[in-house]
Amino acid sequence: MLFFIDTANIDEIKEAQSLGVLSGVTTNPSLVAKEGVSFHDRLREITSIVPGSVSAEVISLKADEMIEEGKELASIAPNITVKVPMTPDGLKAVKALSDLGIKTNVTLIFSANQALLAARAGATYVSPFLGRLDDIGHNGLDLVSTIAQIFDIHSIDTEIIAASIRHPQHVTDAALRGAHIATVPLNVIMQLFKHPLTDQGIEKFLADWNNR
Ligand code: E4P
Repeated sequence: MLFFIDTANIDEIKEAQSLGVLSGVTTNPSLVAKEGVSFHDRLREITSIVPGSVSAEVISLKADEMIEEGKELASIAPNITVKVPMTPDGLKAVKALSDLGIKTNVTLIFSANQALLAARAGATYVSPFLGRLDDIGHNGLDLVSTIAQIFDIHSIDTEIIAASIRHPQHVTDAALRGAHIATVPLNVIMQLFKHPLTDQGIEKFLADWNNR
């Protein structure tokens, strides 16, 4: 399973990139709005830092407008992936964009049937939202397992991005359940490094070294 970072913040992206574990970035309109900057300028900056897939979401809701917006976003850099919401219009846009060779990420996936439809429309990635499903008393990780199983049975090469990750256990479980990628906020990435025995071990090694 690869790591993407889920943010539009440049400092966070640079920090994650410097750790050497980053394969891509996902953004969404809420994350970009928080930054208070020009969307296209920010995408130019992000794509110049991270060579992997950078997901940029369309704002339009009609297929023809999404297609135009998607083409515009894709022209910013070769590593842009156009993020499209899971609706009938969204999937029409995914089909048209994928026919043009543009990578797509179908977002706001909350059921296996949505993931299967998105894959059949030609999506490069589907993004099931774990945390938001957990929030309403469902099991987001079970959804990842079901999608992974269906894609495996039918030899579908659309990749699963585990999204809406809230804590380190989500990351471990997403990897075990067959997600190809987890898109993770920086604060959760940093928590993945932590173990009290690692800290104690470093302290003890240094103390022994200094007492030699
Ligand atoms: C993924 O692509 C989304 O941007 C993101 O993971 C949503 O997470 P949230 O539910 O924490 O907003």
